[in-house]
Amino acid sequence: MIKQTTAIETFPCVDEDYIRGLNEHAQAAKPISAQRKRELIAHIKKLLKQQDAVLVAHYYTHYDLQELAEATGGYVSDSLDMAKFGSEHPASTLIVAGVRFMGETAKILNPEKRILMPTLQAECSLDLSCPADTFVPFCDEHPDRTVVVYANTSADVKARADWVVTSSIGTKIVKHLHERGEKILWAPDKYLGNYIQKVTGADMLIWQGFCIVHDEFKSHELEKLRQKHPQAAVLVHPESPDEVIAQADVVGSTTALINAVGNSPANEFIIATDNGIFYKMRQVAPNKKLIEAPTGGIGASCSSCAHCGWMAMNGLENIATTLEQGCNEININEQLRVKAYQSVKRMIDFSKTL
Ligand code: 13P
Ligand code: SF4
Repeated sequence: MIKQTTAIETFPCVDEDYIRGLNEHAQAAKPISAQRKRELIAHIKKLLKQQDAVLVAHYYTHYDLQELAEATGGYVSDSLDMAKFGSEHPASTLIVAGVRFMGETAKILNPEKRILMPTLQAECSLDLSCPADTFVPFCDEHPDRTVVVYANTSADVKARADWVVTSSIGTKIVKHLHERGEKILWAPDKYLGNYIQKVTGADMLIWQGFCIVHDEFKSHELEKLRQKHPQAAVLVHPESPDEVIAQADVVGSTTALINAVGNSPANEFIIATDNGIFYKMRQVAPNKKLIEAPTGGIGASCSSCAHCGWMAMNGLENIATTLEQGCNEININEQLRVKAYQSVKRMIDFSKTL
């Protein structure tokens, strides 16, 4: 929910408590016995074949899902790469294990495919903090600015944008626009916006959205942890607070942080992002030590504790149900999809020039 502010302060502000409250209602997939897990995996493997479907999972989903995606010829990656994989794979159905905007991005890029999700209740606080009915009029009030939105937004918001970017390419695109003399309206993540603004020096009007997971990393506790592990490299996702980013050796997207673990000479890492990513990091560097960046400490009220409650809603049980019933399908109005596609495609075309 967005509270409209007074006449003095015209920027629509984000009701952080309301969004945190919604996350508290996210029901994580229930733990299952080893026997049930074996049964479900065998069942899902059969259903994927029968339904001509492939499973694509985000790095933040449960390890079981990432393992199953890989074992069945599917894919584990970041949000954009998941959608791109879907375009290149011949399967007619994509099962997208992640949060809703990821299913929508898959549909935007693959309109001819059936896109199913284990649950349609898996939200994202960035998406929630930027509803189209507030964002679109705000953009209309600033016609002199190029609208650049992060991938963690609804199809309606993407359709209003000039550009959609991910954390891996956002800085490069804003730099390019800044060099062309364009002023930016950025949404929704305030920390990523601040970071890109600092790096590029662009004129950016920044929407005040936030990620409930990354917002909880604590800079003071991180300083103390770094003193205990002076050899550790600090890897930070740019949705984290400015003071946490300021302590990073590497600031980057999910894929960039995984690559950093593999390529860095360091043997120890402090990692400020969702801990679901450890599955992939352990795969690329099984002998390196991974330490979660602190979400606790003095004054802390960690509710997500380095794991996204909405990502945790994806489980083997609801994947099986989705495949059995063909439920939780993502559908987007074609006119809207075409508009959103143009902004996503602009980013994809730009990435090919790099
Ligand atoms: P990616 O776009 O890197 O997948 O990140 C999505 C996300 O939700 C980060 O919190
Ligand atoms: Fe959204 Fe944050 Fe969850 Fe990523 S971790 S899906 S940005 S709420």
